[in-house]
Amino acid sequence: MSDQQEETSGPQSNLTKDGPMVFVKHLTEYEKYRPDYSEKGVEMILEEIMLPKETSSSSLKYEILELGAGSGKLTELVAPKIPPGYRYLATDISGDFLEMLKSKSLPVETATVNASSIPIPDNSVQNILCASCLHWFCDDKSLREIHRVLVPGGKLISLTYCEQIDEPWFKEIENQWAEACEMLRKTLLTDVYTSDFAELKPMDSCSFFTAVRRECIPGKGITPGLDSILNYLNTLSCYVYLSDDVREAFFSRLKQKVYTQPGVNPENMTIPFVDHFHVFLAK
Ligand SMILES: C[S@@+](CC[C@H](N)C(=O)[O-])C[C@H]1O[C@@H](n2cnc3c(N)ncnc32)[C@H](O)[C@@H]1O
Repeated sequence: MSDQQEETSGPQSNLTKDGPMVFVKHLTEYEKYRPDYSEKGVEMILEEIMLPKETSSSSLKYEILELGAGSGKLTELVAPKIPPGYRYLATDISGDFLEMLKSKSLPVETATVNASSIPIPDNSVQNILCASCLHWFCDDKSLREIHRVLVPGGKLISLTYCEQIDEPWFKEIENQWAEACEMLRKTLLTDVYTSDFAELKPMDSCSFFTAVRRECIPGKGITPGLDSILNYLNTLSCYVYLSDDVREAFFSRLKQKVYTQPGVNPENMTIPFVDHFHVFLAK
């Protein structure tokens, strides 16, 4: 067992010393129950990637570096559409996730990479893509690394799906969700993780990137129904982190709330999703 996978002690036995590794425990479910990205979101990424370059660098090695690519849910939508000659390196901190990505036989190179230490020379990447992962490494160390490998004027592009919490029954879950997130934050042994997926506030105070585009578009979402929602929640780090009995207790409270909400049919209920799109330029 590596340092990163070392188990921490305590009542929540699913904890690992390095947060992201927790996803690996639910790889198949992750791939199956997480939403896909909207066609519009993919279109906007391609549009940004294919805009004429403002700067060119003789040291350029990749037109696209994807960080935190996971099982390749975005990679499989973007890679087949990039122009011939574009070099695309898809990476993740987790080798297990990358194995799943590789099994999709996409036209990309792959490597295990931690965003806080990217094994690529300075000024060698035109665009960095992050799909629902920048919140895991939106800290000074990783942002400096990202900036270092980008060519001047290169882009950090982020697309993140996010639930829209307007329904009254969903408001009921919100509190328990916040409780689970707080438990996650306390146990991650890192303050890098931010649950602020939508705004990515830490980027506002980052002096070496400028935000040039922020949009929120309708997302793809998941299949309607309480089971589908529970399957989705079960893939979220804040729930994965809980021990089985704590998670079960959370879910049974949630079901109780849903079944007692007037006018809610558990078979039809759904969570609307939006995709948040951000582009930051490397100064
Ligand atoms: C919510 S998943 C998103 C995966 C994929 N991009 C997607 O859209 O399905 C977050 C991913 O970030 C990766 N990750 C977390 N911290 C990381 C880090 N420091 N460096 C690189 N990848 C990281 C995790 O292993 C995981 O694959």
